[in-house]
Amino acid sequence: MSPFSLRISDRVAAVQPSATLTISTKAKELAASGKNVIDMSAGEPDFNTPDFLIEAAYSAMKKGKTKYTAVAGTIDLRKAISAKFKNENGLDYPPEQISVANGAKHTLYNIFQAILNPGDEILVPTPDWVSYKEMAHLASAVPVDVPTSQADGFYLHREALEKALTPKTRALVINSPSNPTGALYSRKNLEEIADFAVKNNILVISDEIYEKLVYDGAEFVSIASLGPEIFERTITVNGLSKSHAMTGWRIGYAGGPKVLISAINTLQSHSTSNAVTFCQDASVAALNDTSDFVERCRSTFEKRRDLIHSLITAIPGITCVKPLGAFYVFPDVSSFYGKTIMGKPINNGLEFCAHLLDTVHVAAVPGSAFDSDAHLRLSYATSEENIREAIRRIAEFVKGA
Ligand SMILES: Cc1ncc(COP(=O)(O)O)c(C=O)c1O
Repeated sequence: MSPFSLRISDRVAAVQPSATLTISTKAKELAASGKNVIDMSAGEPDFNTPDFLIEAAYSAMKKGKTKYTAVAGTIDLRKAISAKFKNENGLDYPPEQISVANGAKHTLYNIFQAILNPGDEILVPTPDWVSYKEMAHLASAVPVDVPTSQADGFYLHREALEKALTPKTRALVINSPSNPTGALYSRKNLEEIADFAVKNNILVISDEIYEKLVYDGAEFVSIASLGPEIFERTITVNGLSKSHAMTGWRIGYAGGPKVLISAINTLQSHSTSNAVTFCQDASVAALNDTSDFVERCRSTFEKRRDLIHSLITAIPGITCVKPLGAFYVFPDVSSFYGKTIMGKPINNGLEFCAHLLDTVHVAAVPGSAFDSDAHLRLSYATSEENIREAIRRIAEFVKGA
């Protein structure tokens, strides 16, 4: 008998393992060996889920909400989402045009699977969140970069979109506020994007997961609210992870065209079925909540953003846009590439971050994970004390250049 040789499908084997893994594994090892590591790589709020949501889930379980629900989510949750879309975003999605999944990441995965055929192209503005391109690959589609730059606050220019457009372009994914840049698209920018999508008949996937984390009184706009033509060409994605400190609860959702929602539901009916039942009940409580929980988190993040931005931009050789949203800063540290820092030559972001971790024990995510090697991503979902100490250490590190 020949030995068994386990073969991974070409589709999955082609997926890139996360470039951030090396850093986070190393950070954990260092911390376990007793080093005082400051982790600035977190992609989730550092607040606990509020008690009233934990109680809502507990009470749902006690009431027997431990069974399957409709694949698309309970009618109560879809009604609450429908009301949220209407009241907060000016979007008219009835419950049958809403689908709930196990986190916004799952929602996005479902959408990519439902709309992309092999060889189809999807436009991805860069710097980009780590999963969009891999999700495209998993649908045998081709992600196409649409570059944006720090020089104008990561504005998504129409010319850049036109340049990336081909007869195979099927969709455009946008993420405002953005992970990793924290950039928020202005109404004017969204109008340009919408006009491009309508003229070229392209579907827009609008990832609005950081919607609630917007600063300086800036206006958050859902692209689908800009008119009936863009509304019918958009699927709007959101979730509870970032707004309600519910990352582990895994609730995400989308509102969109009926045919697409129905395709997603069919796909999901053969993969995960419904999102966790009692988490759906807690999500109804979150969406109907009138307390100041979300605002308290937002204003805490805003204070931290002011702090981290003022400290990081005071370091010679580092430039950084003041982000209007999310909980990341995305400084450009490329002026240090090609130099020797604390005894080691540094040629790129991965080497910068690895050496930063080794020497001063600060964990940051190299920008190459987001297709922008000049930058690194620092999350400020951590205490002011950690922020001050991390930036002090980064300043000390680059002083050695
Ligand atoms: C831009 C973006 N979209 C979607 C997600 C997925 O969020 P979740 O699956 O926790 O709802 C994340 C999480 O990090 C994100 O940063």
